[in-house]
Amino acid sequence: MLKPELVEKLNEQITSEANAAQIYLQMCLWCEDLGLAGAAAFFRSHVSEEMSHRDRLVDYMIECDAKVALEAIPAPRADYKDLIEVINVAYAHEQMVTKQIHDLARIALDDDDFSTFNMLQWFIAEQREELMLFRGIVDYIRLSGFDGTGGDEMVNMNKYLAGLSASHAS
Ligand SMILES: [Fe+2]
Repeated sequence: MLKPELVEKLNEQITSEANAAQIYLQMCLWCEDLGLAGAAAFFRSHVSEEMSHRDRLVDYMIECDAKVALEAIPAPRADYKDLIEVINVAYAHEQMVTKQIHDLARIALDDDDFSTFNMLQWFIAEQREELMLFRGIVDYIRLSGFDGTGGDEMVNMNKYLAGLSASHAS
């Protein structure tokens, strides 16, 4: 039986994962508008990934016979200055989600809820991967001299993100 605080926090996380899917879909559409098919594919691959995170949490709640309460998802931001800002916002979002997951793990441990802690190990590893992925993109931006505007660097950046979406798809 899950403690009420954990039920509340896991429900918040379910909405947070759905919110991330919505944010990434809007980022995908922003890229599509500019004809950046590779970058759009990268963000699109994250949409289904975030939905699978949501479902994984929902399934765990069902297994524990805990009540799932879905909440409203805010409208995602639709306008960005350039692709660098999109990447930076996505990276910051993953850092925030990582903190949420770590906070959940802390609560589970404090409650001696080893089952939930065990379930969260998958998310802890997943977030470590996500942070590594975005850190790699930020490094690429710095090393390639990409300044967010058009030209060869934009073409290369688009190709680079297309490659990441192919290798990252799960
Ligand atoms: Fe996620």
